Amino acid sequence: MVKQNAYAKINLFLDISCLRDDGYHDIVSYMQTVSLCDEVTLERADEITVEGNPAVLPEKDLTYRAAKAFFEHTGIHGGVKITLKRNIPMQGGLGGGSADAAAVLRGLNELYSTGLGDDELRSIGGTLGSDIPFCVSGGSMLAYGRGERLCKAPNLPDCGIVIAAGSHGCSTPSQFAELDRLHGDFHRYTPHTDMLDRLCNAAAAHNIIGVCESLFNIFEQTDGYDPKIAHTIKATGATGVLMSGSGSSIFGIYESEDAASKAAAELISKGIKAYACRPI
Ligand code: C5P
Repeated sequence: MVKQNAYAKINLFLDISCLRDDGYHDIVSYMQTVSLCDEVTLERADEITVEGNPAVLPEKDLTYRAAKAFFEHTGIHGGVKITLKRNIPMQGGLGGGSADAAAVLRGLNELYSTGLGDDELRSIGGTLGSDIPFCVSGGSMLAYGRGERLCKAPNLPDCGIVIAAGSHGCSTPSQFAELDRLHGDFHRYTPHTDMLDRLCNAAAAHNIIGVCESLFNIFEQTDGYDPKIAHTIKATGATGVLMSGSGSSIFGIYESEDAASKAAAELISKGIKAYACRPI
């Protein structure tokens, strides 16, 4: 049996450089793994089964598709019983489904002693979803292309983070479609890469306040963004507040983990689903 933590991600910067001919968007993003995680357990079996996601048919679950792709890629005639314990809010822009799929790829690599490198796992994952390559090994990364072209970013300085689930989930394709309408298919759009440069410089200088001054997410322009939750988080003393991914989760950054824990407790007392975590 193999157990893997599947860590959520947040985007401290997310912008779009163009709408591509294949309908996807080229993005520019600073992605960060955080300690909030799902737990994925894998046991050898004759076929692929998934327990723990009653919302969809097992064959539609991204973890099932990841296992199928792994066995096809390696030529192994195997199976796996996948058990999910979900803690990451779904449809929250936190990459929960992608994290679970990446954990399945890592776990099967271990369970079947296949010795595949991270690049190979990323390329299997990239056929299934744009965020999966990042989730294979995570950390602090800059993401380009669909999200699958990755390079190391300066580590985020030590800090505390609170993630608040939005009042409703966001469908990623419809959020991208709304941006296309707002920006006329991005024909004349220039991404805010100057802000990303400032963010990276601040991270490299261990300056969390500077990082918080350069947070940006273009998806805050969509109706998935709930400014009321953002204001409530800000009022708990957050240094910076931003929506993650295509929404609807909103996170706050605090100068210490202790401050984040107190802020999460305050938000929970107001009826907001909130999670204190830290960058990893
Ligand atoms: O790759 P993934 O399956 O996560 O993407 C879901 C949907 O989000 C795509 O079908 C596409 O509509 C949109 N998307 C996009 N550009 C990206 C990533 C996703 O347009 N870079």
